[in-house]
Amino acid sequence: MNNFLDLCRAAIGAPYVITNEADMAPYLTDWRRRFTGRAQAILRPGSVEEVAALVKLCSEARVPVVPQGGNTGLVLGSVPDDSGREVVLSLGRMNRIRAVDVINNTMTVDAGCILAQIQNAAAEAGRLFPLSLGAEGSCTIGGNLSTNAGGTGVLRYGNTRELCLGLEVVTPQGEIWNGLRGLRKDNTGYDLRDLFIGAEGTLGIITGAVIKLFPQPKAQLTALAAMQTTDNALALLTLAQQRCGATLTGFELMSQFCLELVAKHYPQMQLPFPQPYPQYVLLELSDSESEEHAMETLESLITSALEEDVIQDAVVAGSIAQSRALWDLREHITLAQADEGKNIKHDVSVPISRIGDFIRETDASLAEQFPGIQMVTFGHLGDGNLHYNVSPPVGVPADEFINRQHEVNQVVHDSVNSYNGSISAEHGLGALKREEVKQYKSDVEMRLMRTIKQALDPLQLMNPGKVL
Ligand code: FAD
Ligand code: MLT
Ligand code: ZN
Repeated sequence: MNNFLDLCRAAIGAPYVITNEADMAPYLTDWRRRFTGRAQAILRPGSVEEVAALVKLCSEARVPVVPQGGNTGLVLGSVPDDSGREVVLSLGRMNRIRAVDVINNTMTVDAGCILAQIQNAAAEAGRLFPLSLGAEGSCTIGGNLSTNAGGTGVLRYGNTRELCLGLEVVTPQGEIWNGLRGLRKDNTGYDLRDLFIGAEGTLGIITGAVIKLFPQPKAQLTALAAMQTTDNALALLTLAQQRCGATLTGFELMSQFCLELVAKHYPQMQLPFPQPYPQYVLLELSDSESEEHAMETLESLITSALEEDVIQDAVVAGSIAQSRALWDLREHITLAQADEGKNIKHDVSVPISRIGDFIRETDASLAEQFPGIQMVTFGHLGDGNLHYNVSPPVGVPADEFINRQHEVNQVVHDSVNSYNGSISAEHGLGALKREEVKQYKSDVEMRLMRTIKQALDPLQLMNPGKVL
């Protein structure tokens, strides 16, 4: 065992093999503070060659590897188990923007680059990298790719998978696959890139990527609309898509209860309306013509929605600061719910047209079986993706409620399944949903996934216990 760590020290330098308990701690607990694992060491390589050398050593010594980026994942995918046998391989030191090609509209990056760093580098080059999520100040592109993260721009730009043209990967045997081609067309056999995207570190370690850039919009406008029901929100979506086409780049649903939580824990953030409404939609328009054109489109949409009684009120942000304030309301829901205490999260998708029925039916089933529970429902309505979260009834201790997590999950996920939906729309399976997903995937799907895992990682050393 010690010999193995000495070899790791020789490969990447002793300061980058962390074994001290206090220094290891941040890598061992998940973002939601639901689980703390143990590890032999945290390994912090500085290059793809060092990653390959470490993975080879792990393979020879049969040491399981947990790849880690920003450790912001929400499904217990990035932390080790409690055996103490695993090592965490953190990509944090690999944070170089390798190249920007403004004609090809691509950027080549190290996997450990923080998402916000990439967004800024794209902006400096006069381009847009449209992946955007609440954790963008600390999550990494390697983690985004490995979870196929969604976020708030999927409606227009797609999931992370759609934003990637090439990958560099260290295989479980410690070989380097350089697939860093910035090609938009390449039909030369199985798509290996797509195997590693969304694999949550179970098939290899992503060390670099070629990602797509887009033109910067001339204007970006944000509005918050208030309405009575989620059906109204869906009617607004249809109207917005008709009126705005590709300029509609964000469409986020939030209930009044979500925003009450935000206002309670972040009193500086308040709703801009004089009275509460049951539901809200945050809309974003990105216009390639001009600010005036964007404003005209947005105002005409809002006027029609008010006239047709689809919405009851709306505000349009008049400055970048006001726009930020509206987005802050949305992005602080997760933080406010965490501040409120332990809760049960669901990250589900159903066909967009069926969201209203799904919410009504599932809310009723939950209320019947768990009287008094509090629904914290929000999410990426434009993608059919809800964060259908549940907080305990007032007065019920959180731990008591969390003990019933499996029962709550079962009600929600059975309902999702009956709507032909997915029990993980954008966060992945990790260790949290690994067992449950078996109920909802066919034997054929499960067998094909196991076959791929066995073929690529026969020693089962890459992030064991996650996904499968
Ligand atoms: P980590 O948490 O470190 O790892 C996630 C998974 O990827 C693990 O299985 C890990 O083993 C694997 N992994 C990490 N890096 C690599 C690598 N280089 N090679 C191979 N495997 C690797 N997610 C969304 O999809 N949409 C959202 O809107 C969203 N909002 C969020 C808001 C907040 C406040 C928080 C805390 C999280 C949010 N998330 C969201 C979840 C999370 O941020 C994403 O899953 C993100 O992509 C994880 O990136 P990371 O670098 O933190 O990865
Ligand atoms: C979000 O959209 O804010 C995230 O996916 C985080 C969450 O689910 O809480
Ligand atoms: Zn989300």
